[in-house]
Amino acid sequence: MNPLKHVAIIMDGNGRWGLKFKNSRNAGHKAGLKTVEKIIKATIKNNIKFLTLYAFSTENWKRPKKEINYLFHLLENFLINRIEELHKKNIKLKIIGNKNFSKKLNKLLIYSERKTKNNKKLQINLALNYGSKLELISAFKSIIKNKEAINIKNFSNHLQTKNIPDPDILIRTGDTNRLSNFLLWQLAYTEIFFEKKLWPSFNDKDYNKIIKKYKRIKRNFGGI
Ligand code: IPE
Ligand code: IPE
Ligand code: MG
Repeated sequence: MNPLKHVAIIMDGNGRWGLKFKNSRNAGHKAGLKTVEKIIKATIKNNIKFLTLYAFSTENWKRPKKEINYLFHLLENFLINRIEELHKKNIKLKIIGNKNFSKKLNKLLIYSERKTKNNKKLQINLALNYGSKLELISAFKSIIKNKEAINIKNFSNHLQTKNIPDPDILIRTGDTNRLSNFLLWQLAYTEIFFEKKLWPSFNDKDYNKIIKKYKRIKRNFGGI
């Protein structure tokens, strides 16, 4: 059985779910947050140490302002209401991506990271204003600036996922088979599961099924 340390998820399909069931994309984002809570619980139950959630890409700024504002409003409320609880559950929150949001949200993100930084049960990496191409360019720049040797190990240490093992599983919900600029380097040997369900309809049963399937895959990493 394969060990499982890290699950990464592209949480896609909120907008379509919202339009279909509530006639509003934003209602889909709200419902999607409930799935996030379910999946965090299931991740702890499965004793998985790292969960990376793609919440907002560097390309998502192309969306209407109203939708972007709503997404960040949801995130702000979530942190204000739930960071204590996450902390009590021994969960560490780390943001990957560039924090250039409102002053209020930036402060809240920094506060949440600081508060939970020594927690050990589960590390949640929240990808916010994250794009893999920019991450790779920054890594190249800093490795060159430091005059370090360019090799795989050094390079990995300049990524925002430094000290985080590469994902074992990537799940993308929402019936779309692409990576959308997510963890291009880190996913080199990840087992990928494209899921038809939209994110708000995805549940712990679906998640456990994927985990079970993953555990039986023969991972070769180039060997036989
Ligand atoms: C993913 O759901 C959430 C974010 C990108 C914030 P979408 O909002 O992309 O939902 P669809 O793909 O339009 O249904
Ligand atoms: C990917 O979903 C980003 C997140 C889930 C945050 P998108 O809905 O933005 O992806 P594209 O634009 O359809 O590729
Ligand atoms: Mg989408």
